[in-house]
Formats: sequence, structure tokens, C-alpha cells
Amino acid sequence: MTPYELRTATPADYDPIAAVVDDWWGRPILPSLPRLFLDHFHRTSLIAEGPAGLAGFLIGFISPSEPDEAYIHFVGVSPEARTGGLARTMYERFFDLARRHDRRVVKAITSPVNRTSIAFHGRMGFEVGEPVPGYNGPGTALVTFSRTL
Ligand SMILES: CC(C)(COP(=O)(O)OP(=O)(O)OC[C@H]1O[C@@H](n2cnc3c(N)ncnc32)[C@H](O)[C@@H]1OP(=O)(O)O)[C@@H](O)C(=O)NCCC(=O)NCCS
Repeated sequence: MTPYELRTATPADYDPIAAVVDDWWGRPILPSLPRLFLDHFHRTSLIAEGPAGLAGFLIGFISPSEPDEAYIHFVGVSPEARTGGLARTMYERFFDLARRHDRRVVKAITSPVNRTSIAFHGRMGFEVGEPVPGYNGPGTALVTFSRTL
């Protein structure tokens, strides 16, 4: 349980998210979150709000090509709201959604430098792979996560 209100995202949530992601990640990350994710995957994405406004978000979708799979592209929690279980709550909400769509596996990826993300996904029950060299082309090793529902 968290003191935040969770709701389904809308396309209008893109601008408030885009305004904070570089700050929340502590590095330039916005190019990895183009508007198309909110335009086309808002029904399976989540927004958490508190008294100070946006407290967290999860961008995920039900794979249109892999019938067993759902995918979480981004999760972010504001620095003030961290370690209180908000990301866990959003992930569990997304797992429920994926189950309702008969999905059995949730996947995600992260940069090897994102130790927080690796620790978080491990705590959330994901299998953490070794960095895959060239995952998104030359010079882009990424760590893969996979969780069976
Ligand atoms: C990763 C992030 C989303 C976690 O959000 P959060 O709301 O603080 O996480 P929660 O409080 O729900 O924690 C869930 C579990 O992960 C663990 N965890 C969270 N942050 C952690 C950290 N920095 N180091 C180790 N474990 C961590 C918690 O201990 C908790 O485990 P438990 O429930 O088994 O005790 C948040 O730190 C963040 O937004 N970071 C910047 C953006 C980012 O890197 N996103 C992930 C890549 S897309």
C-alpha cells in the first residue's frame, strides 16, 4: 500500500513525464522515451500522483507479437517518493493486467550502469541476465530481465 493514487495513463501525461525523467534518472534518458509510448501504450501504462503531483509512472505494454509476453519499458519514481513501495505497487498492478491478458512472462531491460534498476528488478523476482553486447546495436550492452507470472 502507498499513499499515492494510481490511475491509467493518458497521452497528455507525456509532457509532465518528459519534464522530469532526466532529473529522476540523474542522466539524459529522455531520447529513450519518445512520445509514441504514451500515444500508443497509455492504456497499459500507469501514473501515480500525490499531493506534489506526479510521483511515479510505469510505461508497459502487452506484446502484440509475442502471445505469452508483456513488456515494461520504463519505471520511474520521484526521488522524494522512493523506497516506500511505489514501484513495487505499480509493478504488481501491471503483473495483474498482464495476467488478465493471459501473459505468462514480463520482460524488461536496463543499462549495466543502472545498479538501482538491477537491484530493484532482482527484488521484484526477475531473472537478471548478463549484459548482452550490441543489444541495440554497436556499443549498447544491456542487461535483460525476465519474470514468470
Ligand atoms: C528503481 C525505482 C523505480 C525504484 O522505485 P521505489 O519506489 O523506490 O522502489 P520500491 O520502494 O517499490 O522498492 C521495491 C523493492 O526494490 C528494492 N529497491 C528499490 N530501490 C533499491 C535500490 N536503490 N537498491 C537496492 N534495492 C532497491 C526495495 O528494497 C524493495 O525491495 P523489497 O520490497 O523486497 O523490500 C526508483 O529508484 C527510480 O525511479 N530510479 C530512477 C529511475 C530508474 O532507474 N528506473 C528503472 C529503469 S527503467
